[in-house]
Amino acid sequence: MFSIGLLSTAKINIEALLNPVRRRDDCQITAVASRHWEKAQNYAVHHTIPKAYGSYQALLEDHQIDAIYISTPNSLHSSWVKAGLEAGKHILCEKPLVCSYQELTELKNLALRQNLLFMEAMHYQYHPALIDFFRLIDVGILGPLSYVSAKLRYYRPPVGDIRLDPHLKGGCLMHLGCYCLDAITRIIKHPLEFTNLHLTERTPAIDLACHGTLTTTNQAIKAEFVCDFSGEVFDSEIKVVGDKGEVLLTSALNPAVIQGFIHDIFSLKTTFPDIPLLSSGKGRNTYDFQLDYFISLLKEKDHTPRLNEQATILLEKGSILVNDLLKEPM
Ligand SMILES: NC(=O)c1ccc[n+]([C@@H]2O[C@H](COP(=O)([O-])OP(=O)(O)OC[C@H]3O[C@@H](n4cnc5c(N)ncnc54)[C@H](OP(=O)(O)O)[C@@H]3O)[C@@H](O)[C@H]2O)c1
Repeated sequence: MFSIGLLSTAKINIEALLNPVRRRDDCQITAVASRHWEKAQNYAVHHTIPKAYGSYQALLEDHQIDAIYISTPNSLHSSWVKAGLEAGKHILCEKPLVCSYQELTELKNLALRQNLLFMEAMHYQYHPALIDFFRLIDVGILGPLSYVSAKLRYYRPPVGDIRLDPHLKGGCLMHLGCYCLDAITRIIKHPLEFTNLHLTERTPAIDLACHGTLTTTNQAIKAEFVCDFSGEVFDSEIKVVGDKGEVLLTSALNPAVIQGFIHDIFSLKTTFPDIPLLSSGKGRNTYDFQLDYFISLLKEKDHTPRLNEQATILLEKGSILVNDLLKEPM
């Protein structure tokens, strides 16, 4: 039985960890930590968690805890991953893991030295439908690729939300673009460069919607992404075009719960008449599959870091471009 501690009382804890943990019997949430003792205590009572800590450091000092789930704002991921690894805890950290390639490399090396699992909670990729989708492309059904796009639109965050705070690494690129860049770099296995990035909606301080274009260094494959906080909807898609055809997977980056056939939720449109059906999740969502994977790695003692270096490189470059654009007057 693995013992997991929650580092923060974030909203995402419930869907991403508390509910999936309740649906299985090989791990448990044994403690929650908040910056505020009373908040931790109320949270622990509400969610039936045995222990509450009034500081994140106190959680890390609990010797009964094997792994930490980090769900702080983006700007704090790196320092708490470091502290968690130094305290000997396996880490499942929310996306985007970190904001720079240098931070990622330092944390990866620390995890390897400590022989601890360090995994980004990039949940969508663990759904069997997505595993099938990436595999179909990897085996070459589309032939040589020429174009990949990823889009993710989410509801406008309310005033005061961490997504609207530049000091907490908010903004649509950090919160939504990280998924798009993850998907693009999983499909295109060659280094990519930005050819353009522009903000389609912004406040004086933060990017609300942006559109980026990328290319491989030999210009053979183009890529494009749209991330958008300004919409009324939560939807997403990945499109891949090759010499032999194209596929479009809608709802690709959403935390899907599939009750029936895969096509009820994931809509796969393809130019192939006989493309195989993607696997159904049988009612389980992307967070269930993410936790399956995390726990299976712990059971197997496979501590190879699960992160996406190419996506982090692009996220860092993209955020420099975004920050330059935000310096321009509106
Ligand atoms: N995987 C997904 O589907 C998904 C979805 C949404 C968000 N996320 C990621 O999950 C993380 C949390 O997102 P969320 O929307 O759940 O956040 P949230 O509800 O605003 O919670 C963030 C938590 O971080 C802690 N915190 C520490 N320093 C803080 C500060 N200076 N300002 C505000 N909070 C601070 C707070 O916990 P205490 O007060 O208890 O210390 C707070 O409850 C982000 O990294 C985000 O990118 C992932």
